Formats: sequence, C-alpha cells, structure tokens
Amino acid sequence: MTANNRIVLSSDHAAIPLRQVIADHIAARGWEVVDIGPTSPESTHYPKHGEAAARRVATGDCRLGIILCGTGQGIMMAANKIKGIRCGVCADAFSAGMIRQHNDANMLALGARVIGEGLALEIVDGFLNAEFEGGRHAMRVEMINALEG
Ligand code: RB5
Repeated sequence: MTANNRIVLSSDHAAIPLRQVIADHIAARGWEVVDIGPTSPESTHYPKHGEAAARRVATGDCRLGIILCGTGQGIMMAANKIKGIRCGVCADAFSAGMIRQHNDANMLALGARVIGEGLALEIVDGFLNAEFEGGRHAMRVEMINALEG
C-alpha cells in the first residue's frame, strides 16, 4: 500500500446502507475511508456524487474510489467523464480484479439493487487485492487516457 491509502466512497440514495457496510469493511482492512455521503435517504442525483468522488481521485487526494447507485451504471458514467478516471461497474469479483490488473481502474462502481452485501464485499476485496500489471497493458491504458471527445 502506498503512502496515500485513502479511498473515497460515495453513492446516491439507492445505496446508502450498502455504502456503510463497505466503508466498515475497508476501514477494517486498514484503509482510510473518506465517505463523502450523502447520508440522507432522500432522493438525490447520482451524477453529482459520481463527479465529487471522481474529483477526489483525479486530484490525487484519494488513491481509489468506490461509488454506488441502484445499478452502478449511472454513477460510473458520471465518474468516467472526469479526466484521469477509469471506473468499471462490477457484479463479480473476477472482473473487479481484472479492471485493476489490466485496465488500471482507479474507481469501482457497484449496483446496490443488483448485488447483495456478501457479493459486494467479495467484489470490493477483488478490487483492493489486485494491482495494475503494467507491461503490455500500460500502452492500452495510455490509449484510453489519450481519448478525448
Ligand atoms: C435511482 O432511482 C437510480 O436511477 C440510480 O440509483 C441508478 O441506478 C442510475 O444509474
């Protein structure tokens, strides 16, 4: 683990309880959790929460980010609009490891209406236990980084 062991967490209203479970889990693993909310169960808008979390990662304030909404899809789309962010939605632990190993993902998105707590924690562990492999994957990640609209 590098000097920066902070992980930012955020979600929309659909995922607040699961976000809390994940926060406790990764804190127990020794990571510093930066949970930027929201805490109110009132309906809110996933793009602004995805953006806020993504900016924490893009600036280097947090090494990684985990974001959640009902499906994980909308908040992932928002986060990926921020330069330097590579975020994937995962519903299985294998993919969560692979997006670190091959794609150098710096954010993970989860769907609280798609997966249960046990699977969510397996996916989080798959993401956190993996490291970018570099090598032939580095050029491909650079190709992603170079893409502009
Ligand atoms: C909110 O109802 C829902 O649309 C949101 O959580 C997410 O699933 C969108 O991608």
